[in-house]
Amino acid sequence: MGCHCGRARRAARRIGNGRGPCRLLSPPAALGADARGGAATILGPMASPSKAYHLTTFGCQMNEHDSERMKGMLESLGYGEADSRDQAELILFNTCSIREKADNRLAGHLGEAKRLKSEDPDKVIGVGGCWSQSMKERVFEQFPFVDVAFGPGQVHRLAEFLTSDSITAQGYFEFEGFTGHLPMRRARDFQAWIQISVGCNCKCAYCIVPSTRGREVSRPAAELVAEARRLAADGVREVTLLGQNVNSYGRDLPSSAKASFAELLAMVDAVEGIDRIRYTSPHPKDMREDVIRAHAELESVCEHIHLPLQAGSSRVLKAMRRTYDRGRYMDRVAMIRDVLPDVALTTDIIVGFPGETEAEFCETLEVAEQVAYDSAFTFVFSPRRETTAAELADPVAHDVKRERMQRLVEVVQRRAAERSQRFVGRRMEVLVEGRSRNDPDRLRGRTRHNKTVNFTGPGEAGEMVWVDIESATSTTLAGHADAADEPAIPGRLVERQLT
Ligand code: 5AD
Ligand code: SF4
Repeated sequence: MGCHCGRARRAARRIGNGRGPCRLLSPPAALGADARGGAATILGPMASPSKAYHLTTFGCQMNEHDSERMKGMLESLGYGEADSRDQAELILFNTCSIREKADNRLAGHLGEAKRLKSEDPDKVIGVGGCWSQSMKERVFEQFPFVDVAFGPGQVHRLAEFLTSDSITAQGYFEFEGFTGHLPMRRARDFQAWIQISVGCNCKCAYCIVPSTRGREVSRPAAELVAEARRLAADGVREVTLLGQNVNSYGRDLPSSAKASFAELLAMVDAVEGIDRIRYTSPHPKDMREDVIRAHAELESVCEHIHLPLQAGSSRVLKAMRRTYDRGRYMDRVAMIRDVLPDVALTTDIIVGFPGETEAEFCETLEVAEQVAYDSAFTFVFSPRRETTAAELADPVAHDVKRERMQRLVEVVQRRAAERSQRFVGRRMEVLVEGRSRNDPDRLRGRTRHNKTVNFTGPGEAGEMVWVDIESATSTTLAGHADAADEPAIPGRLVERQLT
């Protein structure tokens, strides 16, 4: 059972929803099974219509997914989304603690929330997510105007808080379960995330996730397949399986329900209507041949693998506690390229881990040069609370780290631009996402390789179209769709080289 660590942190002040006497509901009372016999929804009668919320999300896809759940939950409670914070009775932040920049940005946003609350004390301010989890009760010490704080495992507790007439600030920080059972408001009707696990059993020295999201817990495969079926019936064509370490999925499941990540991919692939399966993030140590082969053998599994490198030097990888060295990483890459020569490979790289020497950094450059990633997320190391790397002496000056970052970005972009040229002259299946951001006369979509394509021609959001690729940069492709063409039939097997 989770903690009710609500404390009377301030003079009693009503921040409830004004619907009568106190009813602090336990989750089973607040949540009920929906008519489709699986997902739960918040029961209607508690809804307090015409209230508005504003939610700001920081961080990774896992957080964006949690925010979709939060929005779905709030809307079933009768809240509508406000365009700006000053129009909202409920101001929420779903926080990240992976990078210092996000912390700093959060402080600025919270400052605005504080000002709005001083003008209208009835506003409720909530802070969820990883940063909140890492701070726990200190959220209230640092930001005494916050009314409710909760970690990533307690999104449903927000509903409990809002439907109670609690007059004290509340903090909920113990992992209690997945948000999978909560209603969701998807950003796009045809794409969805499926959270397959939470937490992480690795002990990477720089990473805060094990302390914020706890040990790895997998959801049973049958539940995930049922969710994929529901989503497909609801018009979803592309799913992204989410977890901190997706490919160690299933190891914690009881033997009666054991399934490996590759087996899970096959089960989701068999769901009628799901045309594209993506996943993020795998750990190189768990990137086994069966998963790599799944990309070749299963029609829906996309031609994209995100394989976080973090550093090219074996000494730094050891200090990071990544449990693989440069050689083993490169072996993985070789196996991937052997089975899937055309696959898009992307990565995460940290520059300036404490004590990283110039020679060690050059090893990262060498790996980036050799692998030729299709793209990379690059981070300057930043010390995080409760991580072992935060305790390490760090003699490398910040300017040196910045300069290393520039050199790395230059290599990544140059190699990505070169590798991108393989798409020019091909007719590719593109899932249309909407209008191009820079040119409203063009459409924007994504290939199975996860490349953004801007193109002219017919197409509606959610449709698959064939696009003839005419040019490519390190980040985007450009081309045109022919009005006379049949819509694309999902699946790479029909993709062909133009003559
Ligand atoms: N400093 C810099 N980058 C980090 N990442 C995780 N923790 C840190 C940190 N303390 C990066 C890693 C990870 C990605 C999601 O964020 O590269 O893969
Ligand atoms: Fe996501 Fe990690 Fe940030 Fe948490 S700390 S929101 S898991 S990136």
